Amino acid sequence: MEREHPLEPDRAEMLAQGRLVLDRLVDFVDQLPQRPANDLTGRLGKPALRDLVDELSAPPPEHGHDLVELLARMDRAVDAALETAGPGYFAYIPGGGLYSSALASFYTQVVNRYGSVAATAPALTALEESVLHWIAREVCGLPAGSGGLLTTGGSMANLSAIVAARHDKLGEQIADGTMYVTAYAHHSVAKAARIVGIAAQRIRVVPSTPDLRMDVAAAGEMIAADRAAGLRPFLIVASAGTTDTGTIDPLPDVARLADAEKLWFHVDAAYGGFFRLTERGRQRLAGMELADSVTLDPHKTLFLPFGTGALVVREPARLAAAHGGTGGYLQDLGELELPDYAHLGPELSHEVRGLRVWLPLHLHGVAAFRAALDEKLDLTERAFAALRRAPDLDVPWQPDLTTVAFRVRATDPADGDANTRALLARVNASNRVYLSSTVIDGRQTLRLTVVAHRSHASQVDEAIDLITNAG
Ligand SMILES: Cc1ncc(COP(=O)(O)O)c(C=O)c1O
Repeated sequence: MEREHPLEPDRAEMLAQGRLVLDRLVDFVDQLPQRPANDLTGRLGKPALRDLVDELSAPPPEHGHDLVELLARMDRAVDAALETAGPGYFAYIPGGGLYSSALASFYTQVVNRYGSVAATAPALTALEESVLHWIAREVCGLPAGSGGLLTTGGSMANLSAIVAARHDKLGEQIADGTMYVTAYAHHSVAKAARIVGIAAQRIRVVPSTPDLRMDVAAAGEMIAADRAAGLRPFLIVASAGTTDTGTIDPLPDVARLADAEKLWFHVDAAYGGFFRLTERGRQRLAGMELADSVTLDPHKTLFLPFGTGALVVREPARLAAAHGGTGGYLQDLGELELPDYAHLGPELSHEVRGLRVWLPLHLHGVAAFRAALDEKLDLTERAFAALRRAPDLDVPWQPDLTTVAFRVRATDPADGDANTRALLARVNASNRVYLSSTVIDGRQTLRLTVVAHRSHASQVDEAIDLITNAG
């Protein structure tokens, strides 16, 4: 029988639909350790993948299909993928996808409160503020009064930081503004600069020391030369964990330089920020508390599902001054002591983002996150020590965080590059773990990054075994 309002399932149907989805998802999580690390073409093969892509590219039908059949289609699309939620995922910067956070997202989407203007759901904004204050003050060590906003990821956080820096330091005259990064800064920084109108030739790439950290003395010289040439240095970006190797720039030295030169000091801690919850991380990331703004990514090192980043700033008023804007159609929304996130970033309408961070923190407690991050640091030390013992590998840099970078040893760099690529292919072909690579000093370099909350000693040992016995 046709339903009168097909977009509104009744209670029994909602429960049945929810159970169907939940059962599948719990099975999925249960099976993660056994699932292939990369099933992009694995079980399917390339032609079948092409067929699947074609099949799933079909437009929507005029009349709806059965949920069971649609879920089966979704499953097939999910299966043809890197296993980014699994314990063997050591590539790029893993996320994980904490189940409790996904539950909070589902809850958030169903109640569908407006996350952009505080007056529409003030207590939810207060709750999101509690998360932001914790990140700004407890995690980053910024002073009282600091705050910020949750974003969709680190790239958007870097974008808003650069908008704030440009507005605060350059005003409307941006053509002669120069900013300072290293070659290992995440590419989202240069991308953000381009989006906000900073010309490519105004982005100075500061040299790095042999241990891949910003050469702060060189940065000072570049700034002085730029000033002498009549330019206006306005921003310096330090990495608190580069994507390539997890290396932390000398934050206190960069802070001193920024202070002396009156530059905006942004720390991209998308990878490293939450390691400040651990004792080792707090020591290695000292100086972050001196920043004007810090990017963090809960969807990396708080293990949340993709889609949650954070920007925290020393003075939220500066963020608001750079992003503020309103329209007559918003006049009925009263003003509160709480921030309107729409005025701190580029987006107007968006969901409440706080619950998917707040629920896991309150459900599991901060200690659970601290312990998980400590475990990742331990596992990285174990991987570093083991790979260092392998006679045919070069493991040049002691990890600051949880990335071990290594290459196949060779007298001829071209051979070394070819052998390193071949090693990556052999390890990944095992389909038990998945690693990725980068280029450092022009040399092919493999990276093993231990971040997923589901990766424990057995998977790290398996990865070490595969790397050292893949020859
Ligand atoms: C250091 C760093 N900054 C920024 C980003 C960009 O973050 P997102 O992918 O969340 O946009 C990344 C992503 O890996 C990163 O490692």
